[in-house]
Amino acid sequence: MKVIHVSAECYPAAKVGGLADVVGALPKYQTNLGYEAAVVMPYYDNKQSKSTKYTVDYTGSVTLADQAYQVQVLKVTDSLKTLGYFLYQVKIEHLLDRENVYGYDDDTERFIAFQKVVLDWMLQFKSTPNIIHCHDHHTGLIPFMLTQAVKYQSMRGVPTVFTIHNAQYQGEFSFEKLSYLPEYNLEQSGILEWDYAVNPMAAAIKACWKYTTVSPNYMNELPHASTGLDWLFDTEREKSVGILNGIDADVWNPSTDKMIAKNYNVRTVEAGKKANKAALCEKFNLDPNKPLVAFIGRLVYQKGADIMAGIFDRALDANDVNGLVLGSGDPHAEYLLNELKNKYPGRYNTFIGYDEELSHLIYSGADFLIMPSRFEPCGLNQLYALRYGTIPVVRTTGGLKDTVKDIGEKGGFGIRHEHVSVDDVALAITRANKLYNDTTEFKRIRKEIMKIDNSWENSASEYIDLYNLIAK
Ligand code: ADP
Ligand code: GLC
Repeated sequence: MKVIHVSAECYPAAKVGGLADVVGALPKYQTNLGYEAAVVMPYYDNKQSKSTKYTVDYTGSVTLADQAYQVQVLKVTDSLKTLGYFLYQVKIEHLLDRENVYGYDDDTERFIAFQKVVLDWMLQFKSTPNIIHCHDHHTGLIPFMLTQAVKYQSMRGVPTVFTIHNAQYQGEFSFEKLSYLPEYNLEQSGILEWDYAVNPMAAAIKACWKYTTVSPNYMNELPHASTGLDWLFDTEREKSVGILNGIDADVWNPSTDKMIAKNYNVRTVEAGKKANKAALCEKFNLDPNKPLVAFIGRLVYQKGADIMAGIFDRALDANDVNGLVLGSGDPHAEYLLNELKNKYPGRYNTFIGYDEELSHLIYSGADFLIMPSRFEPCGLNQLYALRYGTIPVVRTTGGLKDTVKDIGEKGGFGIRHEHVSVDDVALAITRANKLYNDTTEFKRIRKEIMKIDNSWENSASEYIDLYNLIAK
C-alpha cells in the first residue's frame, strides 16, 4: 500500500503551524504500521532547504495561462532513514521557491501550479499510489483535477482523502483565473464553485472520496461553525470522519528533548520542571517562585489574540502569577502585548516572533498554558503541554474539548472555560492559581498528565482503516 500526502507544510522542512507537525509525523507512524508513506510539498527557499541534500526525481515545466515555469521534483536524500517517510519537494522557479510559505499576492497561482506539478509528476509513475491524501485548501483542487481534468484521466480511479485542518481558510479565487486549471468539461464547474467564486476547500469536499477533520468534535461543529460552508458540511457529512491528531512522541519528549535546559520524565518531573522554569524565568526576567502562565501561538483572532493583552492584564492584576507570550501575527495585538511589559516589569514578558526552540523551553518551564481559542480544529499545543507536565487552560471548543477534561470532572486534569472573554479566561487563570497553591494536588496532576498517551499510534491506524475502506 502506498499513500502520498500532499501539503504546503511539513516539519522540519517548513512550518507555520500545526499542519506542519501533523504532516511531519503521521507518515512516520504509517510507515511503522507497514504502509509506504511519502510526502510531497513545495520547495521553499528557506534555511532548512539550503542545508538539505536532494536528488532530482522529475524535471518538466508548468504553465499558468501563457506563462511557463521550469519545474523540478526533488527527493530528499535518505529521508526514509532520517524522517521515517519519503519526502519530495516541488521546485518552481520564480513562483514557489520563496522564503515564506504563504503571504504573497500570487499565492493562488503558486499553489495551483504546485498541485498541477504534483499530478504531472505522478502521471509518470510506473504504478499509481493507492491513496492520495491532501491537506487543507492549498491541495484542495487535486481531488477535482483527478476526477475531472482530461490530462489526468488515467489516474481517475485513485481514491483521495482530504483532511481539513482549518475550515476558516478556503483559498477562494475569482473565476477569472479559471484558465490556470487544466482542461475539463466546463459543465462540471459547479464542483469548483461556492458563492460565485472558485473555492478549493469546497471543491475538495465535493470531489474527494472521504474527508476528515482533525478532531471528532470539530466535525460536529462544522455544520454550524459559520465558515460559509455550513450547508456543504451538513450535506456531505456521510463521507466524513473525525480523527484526532496525535503528537510525534520522539520530537516532543521531555526526557530526550535537546531544546530544553534539563531533561526529565514522570519520576523526575519536579526537579526537571524547576530547572527549566529557572532557565526560562532568567531569560525573561520573571520570578521562578510564582506560577507561570504562558501562551504560544499565532496571534490571530482564532487564538483570541485580540484580547490576549487584556487577559494577562486582568489575570495579573487579580492574581499573584507571572505571564509570558510567544507569538506573532496581528500588529495591534503585538503592540499591546509589548506595552504590557512596561506595566508589569518582572512579572510579564512578550517574545514576538517564531522560535521553535523557545517554544520547547516554554512547554517545559511553564506551569500553565492558556488557549483561549474562538475555534480550534484540534490544537497541538495542549497535547505538547500535557506531555511536558504543563497544565492546559483551554476554551471548551473543537479538539480542545476532546482532549482536555476539567479538574471539576472525575479524572479531570485541566481547566476549561466556556467563553472567549477577558473575564472568563482571567477567571480560569484564577482557578489555575488556586490549583497551584494546592501543592499536593498540583503535583499529582502534573505527573498524571505526563502519562497520557496522545502519540500518533492510535490515530495513525484510524487513517489506515479509512484508506482500507476505499483503496483499490
Ligand atoms: P495552529 O496550527 O492553528 O497554529 P496548533 O496548536 O495545531 O495551532 O499548532 C501550533 C504549532 O505551532 C505548535 O507546534 C506550536 O508550538 C507552534 N507555534 C505557534 N506559534 C509559535 C511561535 N511563535 N514560535 C514557535 N512555535 C510556535
Ligand atoms: C490547524 C488548526 C489546529 C490544528 C492544526 C493541525 O492549523 O488551527 O487546531 O491542530 O491545524 O491539524
